[in-house]
Amino acid sequence: MSALPIPSRERLLEQEVRNLGLEVQRLREALASVRDQTPPLPGTRRNGPDPQEAHPLGGSRALAFLRNIITRPNIEVGEYTYYADDDGADRFESRNVLFQTDDPRDRLTIGRFCSIASGVRFLMNGSNHPQAGSTFPFWAFGRGWHERSDIPVRGPITVGNDVWLGLESCVLPGVTIGDGAIIGARAVVTKSVAPYAIVVGNPARVVRMRYDERTVARLLAIRWWEWPPERITRNLPEIVAGRWDDLT
Ligand SMILES: CC(C)(COP(=O)(O)OP(=O)(O)OC[C@H]1O[C@@H](n2cnc3c(N)ncnc32)[C@H](O)[C@@H]1OP(=O)(O)O)[C@@H](O)C(=O)NCCC(=O)NCCS
Repeated sequence: MSALPIPSRERLLEQEVRNLGLEVQRLREALASVRDQTPPLPGTRRNGPDPQEAHPLGGSRALAFLRNIITRPNIEVGEYTYYADDDGADRFESRNVLFQTDDPRDRLTIGRFCSIASGVRFLMNGSNHPQAGSTFPFWAFGRGWHERSDIPVRGPITVGNDVWLGLESCVLPGVTIGDGAIIGARAVVTKSVAPYAIVVGNPARVVRMRYDERTVARLLAIRWWEWPPERITRNLPEIVAGRWDDLT
C-alpha cells in the first residue's frame, strides 16, 4: 500500500484560511440571530429610523425624508431618501425643483435611500427657452405679445436608488441617473448616468465605475433597497462595506 501524500504547508494554510472563513460566517449568523432575538429597549427602534417620519434626526428641520413633505403630484420620492440643508430642508420642492410646468411629462422621480446634499437642483422642463428664433419669452408678458413658440420638452428626470447627489449638483431635464451612482459636488448632469458610475464636472463625465459589470448586474438584481428593514439591519455591515458576496 502506497503512503498518502503529505499535504504541503501551503495546502494546510489554505485549508486553515477556508475553515476560518466558515467560522467567521457561523459567528456572524449567530450574532445576527442573538440580535434578532434580543428585545429592544423601551422607546428604541431596532431597524433604523421610521421612514414615515418627516424629520428623522431628532426633529431637526435641516434634514427631511422627502417623501413625507412632498405635496406636488409631479414629484415622487422613495422611502428613506433625504435632503439635507442647514437653511431648512422643507422647501425642497420649491427651492430645489425649479421651472416646473404642468406638462404631464414634467416629472421628477427619485428612488429609495438617496442622499441629496444641500443646494442640489433639478431643472425641470420649463427651464428651456425656445431656440428656433428669439429665445425671449414674449408670450409671458402678453398685452399683444401672445405668440408662443414651442418649448422643447426633454422629458422626466428619474433618479434611481442609493444615489448620492453631491453639494450643489444640477440635473437637467430628461436625465436618468442609475442606481448606486455618485454625482460629484457642483456637477452639471446633462446626460443620463449609468448605474454605479461616478460623474463629476460640467458637463458631468464618468471618472470611474464603482464596480465591475458583473457586480453591478448582481446589485441591480439584488435590489437590497427594497428589502424589509429587518433584513437590511441584519446585513448592514455587509451593505456598508460593500461585501456583496456575504449578504444573507
Ligand atoms: C465625486 C466624488 C465622490 C469623487 O470622489 P473619489 O471617488 O474619491 O474621486 P477622486 O477624489 O479620486 O477624484 C477623481 C477625479 O475626479 C476629480 N473630481 C473629484 N470630484 C470632483 C468634483 N466634484 N468636480 C470636478 N472634479 C472632481 C478629481 O480631481 C480627480 O481628477 P483626476 O483623476 O484628474 O486627478 C467627490 O469628489 C465629490 O465630489 N463628493 C461630493 C461631496 C459632497 O458634495 N458632499 C456633500 C455632503 S453629503
